[in-house]
Amino acid sequence: MSEGTSRRKYLQLLATGAGWAAAGAAAPRQEPKERKGDEKRGANKPQLESPPDHEHRMRWWREAKFGMFIHWGLYSILGRGEWVMAVEDIPVREYEPLAKQFKPRPGAAREWARLARDAGMKYMVMTTKHHEGFCLFDTKTTDYCATKQAPGRDLVGEYVNAVRAEGLRVGFYFSLMDWHHPDGMKCKTDAAGRRRFIDYVHTQVRELMTNYGKIDVLWYDMAYPLNAEGWQSKELNEMVFRLQPDIIINNRSGIPGDFTTPEQHIQASKGDWESCMTLNDNWGYAPADENWKPPKTVITNLIRCTQDGGNYLLNIGPMADGSVPDPGIRILKSVGQWMQRNGSAIYGAQKSWVNIAEGALFTRRDGMIYTHIHSWPGTTLTIGGIDKKPKGAKLMVSGQEVAVEHKGTQLIFSSLPNKPPDDPVTVIAAEFESAPVQNSLATRIIYAVLGGGPES
Ligand code: GLC
Repeated sequence: MSEGTSRRKYLQLLATGAGWAAAGAAAPRQEPKERKGDEKRGANKPQLESPPDHEHRMRWWREAKFGMFIHWGLYSILGRGEWVMAVEDIPVREYEPLAKQFKPRPGAAREWARLARDAGMKYMVMTTKHHEGFCLFDTKTTDYCATKQAPGRDLVGEYVNAVRAEGLRVGFYFSLMDWHHPDGMKCKTDAAGRRRFIDYVHTQVRELMTNYGKIDVLWYDMAYPLNAEGWQSKELNEMVFRLQPDIIINNRSGIPGDFTTPEQHIQASKGDWESCMTLNDNWGYAPADENWKPPKTVITNLIRCTQDGGNYLLNIGPMADGSVPDPGIRILKSVGQWMQRNGSAIYGAQKSWVNIAEGALFTRRDGMIYTHIHSWPGTTLTIGGIDKKPKGAKLMVSGQEVAVEHKGTQLIFSSLPNKPPDDPVTVIAAEFESAPVQNSLATRIIYAVLGGGPES
């Protein structure tokens, strides 16, 4: 604590959770955040002014929870990640000829879409153009695009058809930064170059928003080297909304969007958010990278995002021909099997106000609390600080009743089997009259840190 920080101020800090890392302790439970009145206070206010129907447009996405990210482009030929052009400093003239070698199998997108659907994912977001500048769509702005190079096909069109055929929502990733366009970097310092480049980018976004029917998500990336003013991001989004009134847009063009995008980590924030993550350590295909996340990690990440009120966008990096690396297929299949048994604890779940337990995470739908046990405790699991008694509880995997009691503030599941009945995470659904709130630890930690009781 810095000198002069009053005890009251410190308590206020603790109450926001900000001081807990310093105190070496888990943040105490706070009052539930999403309650009536929050909208008036602006906690969940639409971040875009126009069009104003953020709540309406976000509805399907909040239900969906789980999406597939696809990083695919010329870099997939080299197999050293999607930043290879920059990392290895490959000159444009040496990189460009890759466009003559890119010959994906027809039907690859349909395989991804099936894989996504079977994994329990509800939407997909594919790189229509990554930082390398190669357009997977047909465009009038450049010859450096799939239709005019080796593929000879509109790969974005094929992707859109495949995603729709599997009943999923369609998302487009689009990199603002462009390492191929001659003005892509010059635009930072050269006004004429900036005008040309902005026209190029805005035209491409217009093409993407015009030529493929209804698009559900626009996922910008990399506002470098300009700022929102330089990109004319506000005008860009206004154009997008005129063409696609129901679309949702992320926040990576330098202005707030419909949702925020924590990358490679899970971090709850105000408003809607989506954690995007890789399956190994790379977004683009990288066969040397064998650091695959086990299905259990993917599943617990999805549960944690859901618990904290966000979505999970999980990436695959297909090979140049479109094939998904085998480990990725195996992981997603196994996630899908778990989702078949437990998906109802994920889809449409709201942020859970119960979220502290050893070895378990939580999701919630109204008064139904799903306890996702990832480290099996044996026959008894105790959850502290729960303010009300449940009506009953069941194992999701079998429908079998679970003995549950409410003792003081403890919720105790007992007579559980010795071994976990589901794999890799077992879910118990407990029904309450209304959503319970958890308030464990707070009093004890304040006592421990300050050596006294909480101030009034
Ligand atoms: C970063 C990387 C990019 C990747 C993206 C995904 O911005 O530059 O390669 O596409 O994250 O979130």
